Amino acid sequence: MTIEKDKREMSGKASDQQWPWWPLLPLYPYGRRRTLFRELIANQVWSFEQLQGLYYVAVPVRLTAVKVSEGLMLLNPLPPTKELLSSLRTLEEKYGPVVTIVLPTSSGLEHKISMPALSRSFPKAQLWVAPGQWSFPLRLPSTFLGIPNWRTKTLGEDGFPHAETCDWIPLGPLDLGLGRFQEIACFHKPSQAILVTDSLVGIEAKPPELFDFDPTPLLFHARERGDEPLQDSPVARKKGWSRIVLFASFLRPAKLAIPSLIDVFRNAFKPGLLNARSHFGLYPFRWEEGWEKSASELIGETKPRLQIAPVLERLVFPRARQTFLDWLDDLIALRGLRWLISAHHSAPIPFNQRDCRTLKRRISSDLWANGKGDFQFLDGLDKTLIKSGVVPQDPLKEFKD
Ligand SMILES: [Fe+2]
Repeated sequence: MTIEKDKREMSGKASDQQWPWWPLLPLYPYGRRRTLFRELIANQVWSFEQLQGLYYVAVPVRLTAVKVSEGLMLLNPLPPTKELLSSLRTLEEKYGPVVTIVLPTSSGLEHKISMPALSRSFPKAQLWVAPGQWSFPLRLPSTFLGIPNWRTKTLGEDGFPHAETCDWIPLGPLDLGLGRFQEIACFHKPSQAILVTDSLVGIEAKPPELFDFDPTPLLFHARERGDEPLQDSPVARKKGWSRIVLFASFLRPAKLAIPSLIDVFRNAFKPGLLNARSHFGLYPFRWEEGWEKSASELIGETKPRLQIAPVLERLVFPRARQTFLDWLDDLIALRGLRWLISAHHSAPIPFNQRDCRTLKRRISSDLWANGKGDFQFLDGLDKTLIKSGVVPQDPLKEFKD
């Protein structure tokens, strides 16, 4: 199947996928956000996925809708395109109105950026946000960010929504210097699913279905050099996805070299590649032998591989190991835990107390947040931030008293 035909068959109407606020956080795919709508757990949990990324390093971001007694609760906002809203309206007709919208993270910019627009789409919904919301580079109160104060409550400080249906389990807070890290997981008892934002993910080798709309990011990164055309095949898609996962997880994986500018330009602007889609043949990366092994440590071949997001492991938690262990203990205490639904990557994935204990063992071992191999770049970044005083040595100090 050619890419063009594939796009025609899979795409919805472009006008229903417009996101006019994209310049606020200019991430791929910019003004056009396709949404993949799926039921994750019958009559209980639904997923809305869109792609977000930089330089074609795009990963799925998920808004989750869950059934609560009065209607529906939304967690982790996404840009409310017409396409997304039309699927949500269908759900409302069957399961009741959207009564609550929750932003359960204080740090994940990609989740909070669309909270104002989503809340305007549901003017009667009660809004809940994680405490300590921050914006970078300026610290602004929530009203400046477009989150209406009069119908907004803070998780923890004002209680928690839908306590009859959900248990809420905070991870953090930690002081990051620039702001704070905290996310509040939601255990939705009827579906036995724990809903998290960034802390835990499950990644699998099969590229996310969202790329069926347009596999360009996969094909772009499946190449070795900028003068290679973008050619579609299942192998190319899988290869491109593995590399995107490495980029997204480690920012600069160990097996990634940056070629000289002369090399990059020598391979650029070749016939057939003089278009924006191919970035005019500019490909400023070179993958070294052994990159597949790095990828296999993150990606499950036949089922999602459960892990703590590597960026969090090395940048947020290296000095707060106990905080993560305590949170996992709270998850172990949940009765009937069966599924993990994260705001990124695969969902739902089977998840129970045994998985929590396996994660605890990993965190307690020497492998945790070490600065070796693929973690080298994040390790260097972390040390630089500490040395310059941007990030505090003790991320718990501010919250100890
Ligand atoms: Fe995120």
